[in-house]
Amino acid sequence: MKRSTSSASANTAGALAATIGAMDTCPVARTGPTTYSSFLEVDGLLDLQVEGAAHDQLLFVVIHQSHELWFKLLLHELDLAVELIKEGTFRPAIGPLRRVNRIVRSLVTQWEVLDTMTPLGYLAFRGELDSGSGFQSAQFREIEFTAGLPDRDYVASPWLSDDERRRLHARLESPTLRQVFMHAVADSGQTVEELISAPMDPQLGDLAEMLVDFDEAFAVWRSRHVLAVERQIGAKPGTGNSSGVEYLRSTTLKRFFPELWDARSVL
Ligand code: HEM
Repeated sequence: MKRSTSSASANTAGALAATIGAMDTCPVARTGPTTYSSFLEVDGLLDLQVEGAAHDQLLFVVIHQSHELWFKLLLHELDLAVELIKEGTFRPAIGPLRRVNRIVRSLVTQWEVLDTMTPLGYLAFRGELDSGSGFQSAQFREIEFTAGLPDRDYVASPWLSDDERRRLHARLESPTLRQVFMHAVADSGQTVEELISAPMDPQLGDLAEMLVDFDEAFAVWRSRHVLAVERQIGAKPGTGNSSGVEYLRSTTLKRFFPELWDARSVL
């Protein structure tokens, strides 16, 4: 995008004034050629990390904010997968789900970066967090709700903004990945066990394995979170006032697609 040069040929002061007026309201004329920074809104993005006095606070902010960005993309891909499966098109749903699985696996490796922080490095700014906690991440709950773990009570949580509450409500009213998959299985005329052992529709069979991959990757992320947290705070309660590691350990048992795991026991 180039800045408009039509003013160069305008001879009268009136025409020049009109052109300048138009440039004030025309974003194309104002922005000039697209650059890396303008396309990606880098200036705005880099303004979002409040560094604080403690050295390790920036690490903590960056790892959380980057998780939120990946959560945004995960939701984008999960929404597409739900839509495609609902329409009965299984092969095209593999693409977004493959991306989902790779994103979650890549987030698992993020914990290694966080592990370079010592407990004292964390304590240097932990007080600043007050009662703020990852437990309050609305996008994390949106992922859980969309995959197969909706939680009506969570939507009443007082820390949610109006927009977060609206988004979570909308997801409660929408079909989950687990539901659309189970409908697809029912429509195929097979049980989950039959689908896993001898799929009549190989694309639906592939999809089933893709969903197990997703569940597994998410469970690994949860388990890795537990270890990273134990390394920082031991057995202390969390800033969100849960029992901390004990609570987080209980979440590692959560599964989005329990039918796919249960089926393994009866093959
Ligand atoms: C120093 C690093 C971290 C510590 C000490 C920590 C600690 C905790 C604790 C104790 C909880 C339980 C709720 C509470 O009482 O606060 C929790 C929940 C949570 N944290 Fe972290 N966390 C850390 C890093 C992260 C990062 C990098 C993320 C990435 C987004 C994250 C996301 C979450 C989520 C989503 C929950 C809710 C889990 C659930 O309810 O299933 N945490 N965290």
